[in-house]
Amino acid sequence: MLRGNKVGLRARHEDDIPVLQAELHDDVANAARAQGRPWRPITPGSKESQFVVDDKKQGHVPFSVVELDGGALVGAATLWGIDDHNRSAHIGLGLLPSSRGRGYGTDVVAVLCHYGFVVRGLQRLQIETLSDNAAMLRSAERSGFVREGVLRSSAWVLGEFMDEVLLGLLVQDWKPDSKQYSKG
Ligand SMILES: CC(C)(COP(=O)(O)OP(=O)(O)OC[C@H]1O[C@@H](n2cnc3c(N)ncnc32)[C@H](O)[C@@H]1OP(=O)(O)O)[C@@H](O)C(=O)NCCC(=O)NCCS
Repeated sequence: MLRGNKVGLRARHEDDIPVLQAELHDDVANAARAQGRPWRPITPGSKESQFVVDDKKQGHVPFSVVELDGGALVGAATLWGIDDHNRSAHIGLGLLPSSRGRGYGTDVVAVLCHYGFVVRGLQRLQIETLSDNAAMLRSAERSGFVREGVLRSSAWVLGEFMDEVLLGLLVQDWKPDSKQYSKG
């Protein structure tokens, strides 16, 4: 498990899937904002769930996010689009509604930076988020991500086009928290 200050990132367990499906995917507004494609219902147990893991997909690394104190599942996080030639990847995350606003998102971004830069040897990480997603923008900026541009009207979300903000972080600009990632 990768450890932050408050949360850990571990492999997806079978019994995480229905919880993530119910709390993240089945919340239509949340899913429509986060997924970049039209929401559709997914049959319970379906292999089509975005939370089902294919361990053979090398460029896509999904984690479940758990509290370090007690191990409760609090969300999902992914390093995706890993490009080993350009040494870049994208970050995605979603926390269960009851676990938002407690600093976990900031912690998850920091741990994914450690995974991307240290474990995978990448040199650039990128996040795309809707321009009104203040918590995501702030969580990214706390790890040193900078706003590199606005993708105007790039996302169709429940009846309107919205802007997305593109954030990037280069390894040489990353200032890791030295207290993190202890193996204990
Ligand atoms: C976006 C998300 C991952 C952020 O995680 P979080 O744990 O809620 O955020 P944190 O508690 O770490 O807060 C980060 C910062 O945003 C601020 N913040 C939190 N919620 C906020 C809100 N609703 N509005 C404005 N600011 C907010 C916090 O005060 C904190 O700022 P600070 O560092 O200056 O104190 C989480 O809210 C979430 O899962 N949202 C739904 C899914 C989603 O939007 N995913 C991202 C898709 S790209």
